[in-house]
Amino acid sequence: MKISIQNLQLKYGDFTAIENLNLDVGDGEALVLLGQSGCGKTSTMRCLAGLEEPSAGRIIIDDVVVFDSEKGINLPPNKRNVGMVFQSYAVWPHMTVFQNVAYSLRMQKISKKEIQDRVMEVLTMVGLEKFAPRGASLLSGGQMQRVALARSLVMRPSVLMLDEPLSNLDARLRDRLRVELREIQLRLGLTCVYVTHDQHEAFALADRIALLQSGRIVQIGAPREMYETPASASIAHFLGVSNVMDCDKVEVEDSLAAANIAGHNVKVRSSQSVPSNVADMRLCIRAEDLQVTARPQESLNSWKGTVRVAGFQGNDIRYAVELEGGLELDALGTIKRGEQHDVGDTVWVTVDPNEVQLLPAEVYA
Ligand SMILES: Nc1ncnc2c1ncn2[C@@H]1O[C@H](COP(=O)(O)OP(=O)(O)O)[C@@H](O)[C@H]1O
Ligand SMILES: [Mg+2]
Repeated sequence: MKISIQNLQLKYGDFTAIENLNLDVGDGEALVLLGQSGCGKTSTMRCLAGLEEPSAGRIIIDDVVVFDSEKGINLPPNKRNVGMVFQSYAVWPHMTVFQNVAYSLRMQKISKKEIQDRVMEVLTMVGLEKFAPRGASLLSGGQMQRVALARSLVMRPSVLMLDEPLSNLDARLRDRLRVELREIQLRLGLTCVYVTHDQHEAFALADRIALLQSGRIVQIGAPREMYETPASASIAHFLGVSNVMDCDKVEVEDSLAAANIAGHNVKVRSSQSVPSNVADMRLCIRAEDLQVTARPQESLNSWKGTVRVAGFQGNDIRYAVELEGGLELDALGTIKRGEQHDVGDTVWVTVDPNEVQLLPAEVYA
């Protein structure tokens, strides 16, 4: 069941929430819409589900044109065969788990036997078969979200849409449900659009990620591709790259790009080629790619500094290292394999030129 979104635009009064969005989701694909709060994720979902009328564009779900502004087509939500799960559980508290899941099937005048079978099948899938007779108000948050998922799945939707379904749960439960969701999606071969602002969730669940900024898709790609080659510094930053620095000039030295960090006398070499036509460049270095050592390293990119913060994190230590001249870098040291340093220690911070990315500040797709 494919989805095709073409030239989608959504306005709320004068404000354009979605700007000319184009997106294709393949049959059985898990597409994650990732972006910070307010970038238009929920708006996009609501357009897909038929809960919002776009100002322009076309939406095709499973070869059916469900919306076309030029032809005046706009199918109501119940004609789109789309299942939705939201952040708020939206489970009916006065019903049992079974009744919650059976509700929509009952509206369809399906035989009692079939309802019984289909409800128990999805309850088993989400691990709630033993809870069928329990009152829904007695469930935990994670269980309620499983009920919400079961309620969508029981309708056998062409497309399942989930809008931040795990955001209200605690971290550990979120990790577990994330894996369960991915298993169910793969097992059923469900075409799935999943919305989140959390990059870890996106990486774990997606076949492809579409990154949304201010109502536009700025990059689409597989999780690993997105992680390794973000298209802009602002995307890199959003995906967790903590050292993002302005540079005031970029030259080529010994066939390496040499960038001077703005306001500091620190030169950083990158093996990346210098893009010719980009004025506003940023240097991006992941904290885990910076090595912190007590001795200078044989490297073009090795700077002396002082440890200002050493935060123990279990498996690793997060350092804030201030270089001579005041530039502060965020570095991650592994406890088992690496050295340990304390606040006030003199250290050298080193990065391989291969791990330094020179990226435009923003991209406009
Ligand atoms: N009903 C509405 N009326 C006016 N503005 C809205 C409405 N719903 C959302 N917005 C605005 O549209 C933008 C995108 O919102 P939304 O799609 O909810 O973002 P996200 O889900 O990514 O957090 C935000 O700036 C939000 O304030
Ligand atoms: Mg939202």
